[in-house]
Amino acid sequence: MDLIKIKDIYRSPNYNSKIIVAGWVRAFRGNRFIELNDGSTIQNIQCVITDSKTDNKIIKKINVGSSLKIQGNLIESIGKGQTFEIEIIDIDILGESDPDKYPIQPKKHSFEFLREQAHLRIRTSTFSAVMRIRSKLAFGVHQFFNEKGFNYVHTPIITSSDAEGAGEMFQVTTLNNNQKEKKEIDYSEDFFGKKTSLTVSGQLEAETYALGLGDVYTFGPTFRAENSNTSRHASEFWMIEPEMAFYDLNDNMDLAESFLKYVLKYIMDTCKEDIKFLDERLLKEQSQKPKNERDELNLIDKINFTINNEFTRISYSDAFEILKNSNYNKKKKFNYLISEWGCDFQSEHERFLVEKHFKSPVIIFDYPSKIKAFYMRLNDDEKTVRAMDVLFPGIGEIIGGSQREERLDILKKRINEMGIDEKELWWYLDLRKYGTVPHSGFGLGFERLIMFCTGMQNIRDVIPYPRTPKNASF
Ligand code: 4AD
Ligand code: MG
Repeated sequence: MDLIKIKDIYRSPNYNSKIIVAGWVRAFRGNRFIELNDGSTIQNIQCVITDSKTDNKIIKKINVGSSLKIQGNLIESIGKGQTFEIEIIDIDILGESDPDKYPIQPKKHSFEFLREQAHLRIRTSTFSAVMRIRSKLAFGVHQFFNEKGFNYVHTPIITSSDAEGAGEMFQVTTLNNNQKEKKEIDYSEDFFGKKTSLTVSGQLEAETYALGLGDVYTFGPTFRAENSNTSRHASEFWMIEPEMAFYDLNDNMDLAESFLKYVLKYIMDTCKEDIKFLDERLLKEQSQKPKNERDELNLIDKINFTINNEFTRISYSDAFEILKNSNYNKKKKFNYLISEWGCDFQSEHERFLVEKHFKSPVIIFDYPSKIKAFYMRLNDDEKTVRAMDVLFPGIGEIIGGSQREERLDILKKRINEMGIDEKELWWYLDLRKYGTVPHSGFGLGFERLIMFCTGMQNIRDVIPYPRTPKNASF
């Protein structure tokens, strides 16, 4: 007889059949009722010890956290709260657990506490729901691009170029400390014979592939040594970066919008139970807040709203005017007041536009060139670039992208203006020398998307082992 997943029992319960399940004890009541979970679904299955068949030595070893293999009959349940249960014939204790020491008790734990137990938190309902959604979302991402005929490119993790030109890279080196103590480090002696780092983005390499394969995307981990300790920044996060030859900025915005809607719909279709669980969890949390601090839409409505409504598209200059003339700005409710064209928007401004002003996802385009990366295409006004940021409620920026500068002379000028060494980017410039074409792309922060889908408030709770400044445990 084979093991059966609890999920499959719920899908089609085969009453009065003998089955075997295996999982971890979530709760054990009255020395009789075991709530077992195997990770395949948010739902536990109740397994009942019938007095005569199980001896006391075994019962003593059944505790919250222990792992069991149970053989029994699936029968209709006469008790409240479940339609069926397993009448136990035989229990195999696979692993014991000390009930006094096991950190994950059947009660509410704070997320802060659970971060310190990141190796065990996956055994809670909330984290298992979030991580199942994470897995499905990744699959939905691949499915979207596969259906559209994109090629999946594996761009390098170790790189010698700073794709964002922001200098926020983690160095990769095998130089010993003696070398590092020298004033001038000789990187020719380092492992790769030059200075290398972990990538901040696979974009530049993805561009080279787009200019041969047409439409490509990369989906991998990226690393940023920015010292921002916020609930939306991680030092290691996953990014999805499509890059398309012959796309202008409008095509790019269209793709970003349809991509987001597709994966949200995919999650609503494939993760119904987990989303419903998280929706109810949030409703409980909201009901404890004062009325004026509660979200207007619950999780499911928010996702559906995003799927069913057009995103607002607005230029930086128009958004700037709205912010500048807003009551929030006039009454100094922003921490950073908006006064001069050219300033970068902070997340408080982005959230004002999305949550208060437009009440919809917003795409801001044509940003001032001074606050954006070197590779973005310069507009004819020579002040703005063909950039776009997609902003989501509760999240702020979820996507950043642009049409790329395909003109060699202008690209070179921008690289020099920004103090970047042209020689390091010789291969990137080659693309503009040999068969250059208009092209565009963007990057979606995978964890921010998961935050939106799950309603989780902190990026540390949507990635298995978060890396943030001063924290790389596990
Ligand atoms: O806006 P960013 O920096 O854009 C790029 O990296 C481009 N090379 C993308 C491209 O055009 N191919 O980052 C893209 C997205 C952001 O919108 C945000 O969602 C996410 O990546 N992101 C982070 N997510 C978590 N932690 C961080 N520290 C992040 N930094 C950016
Ligand atoms: Mg950005």
